[in-house]
Amino acid sequence: MSEFLINGGKSLYGEVEIHGAKNTVLPLFAAAIISAEKVEITNVPLLTDVKNMIKIIQKLGAKAEMVGDKVTIDASRLYSCEIPNELAKELRSSVFLLGSVLSRKKCAKVAYPGGCDIGLRPIDIHIKGLRDLNVKIEESCGYIYCDATDMQSGDVILDYPSVGATENLMLAAVLTEGTTVLHNAACEPEIVDLQNFLNKMGAKISGAGTSTVRITGVESLKGTTYRAMPDRIVAGTYAIAAAITGGEIILKGAKHGDMRALLSKLAKTSCIITQNSDNIHIKANGRPTAVQRITTQPHPGFPTDLQAPMMALQTVSDGICVFTENIFENRFRHVTELTKMGADIIINGRTAVIKGVERLHGAEVYAQDLRGGAALVLAGLNAYGTTVVKDVYHIDRGYENMEIILRSVGADIIRR
Ligand code: UD1
Repeated sequence: MSEFLINGGKSLYGEVEIHGAKNTVLPLFAAAIISAEKVEITNVPLLTDVKNMIKIIQKLGAKAEMVGDKVTIDASRLYSCEIPNELAKELRSSVFLLGSVLSRKKCAKVAYPGGCDIGLRPIDIHIKGLRDLNVKIEESCGYIYCDATDMQSGDVILDYPSVGATENLMLAAVLTEGTTVLHNAACEPEIVDLQNFLNKMGAKISGAGTSTVRITGVESLKGTTYRAMPDRIVAGTYAIAAAITGGEIILKGAKHGDMRALLSKLAKTSCIITQNSDNIHIKANGRPTAVQRITTQPHPGFPTDLQAPMMALQTVSDGICVFTENIFENRFRHVTELTKMGADIIINGRTAVIKGVERLHGAEVYAQDLRGGAALVLAGLNAYGTTVVKDVYHIDRGYENMEIILRSVGADIIRR
């Protein structure tokens, strides 16, 4: 199993091209199988989650292949409506296929999804929303059986603005006659990207990016080509890499408007940030100042996916920072590993108090999940001595060639 070996202490300088967003391409792949025509999606990163999603789509009978950063999906033949258990448990995003397979086949059998071990991650909001649209659902032996023969458009009020449930319901309702309105929908930028993609295929959806999304059913979706949006979480991680190493990085292709919550906090740590429509420029400005409080919230609040990377920065900031994790109940698994590197952190339930130290030191640490793993790499870039980050397969789920990108801006990091 691969590990990263990092000799910390090098300031990072240069440009990083931001690849397409994992959290957008996975629902786009699911959306693509609703059409019987060929769909091409570009700017797709080569990630474990992407490879697994392609395998699942192939198991359903569609043709799907990745060449360079382009994925071509041809679902003219989609003979199965069963998502295979062994693949679904690797990938939580397989749950989106529930909505799209239902749209296409009117029935679906899906295993309970997997993904990062960051909390319970139930799918009750997805199920309740589908039931509100008159989909018949039975749950038995770890599988969910759905029958959408009598599915109807209507109003769905989400109990919580779940990103996945919002996307799944958009996919399920896109071919359903009449108008479906999702209230208390999630507002994440990836939902806007899904709306734009579906509309390019001929769907009639409006309101994504607000808490009310309207889906007016159309007869069918046509083929299209589409460029996936840049990954705001990857961009945020490399922005923090500049800050934690006292460096200066240009994030090429990153969208400032999608990253306001992080950038405003980085500005408070005393980083100098400038941007134009194509790039964001982050320049560290001496030792970071601690930001007093970081509370994760649904978009446009501070993203839970950047909580761990931002915590790595706060471990070496001047002062005290209090983190509250509101989205997932088990998302402080990086804390034990950061303390092995000299971080001063106390956890109480969903709150972590970090007292910044001058600098971390190298240690052997274990990535426990995707973003927590990225936080350990960031910590290793700061630390004196050698850090070994084990189990980097977690990181490979969401960051393409992380070590190669970091080396290109001056980091001393290898995979072995
Ligand atoms: C997506 C992102 C993930 C991000 C998260 C929150 C993808 C592929 N993943 O995950 O990177 O961290 O949004 O921004 O886009 N919940 C329920 N019942 C449900 C659904 C969710 O209780 O039916 C809870 C979850 O357990 C969690 C919270 O709601 O505590 C947020 O989950 P959700 O917004 O659905 O996140 P995901 O779509 O899984």
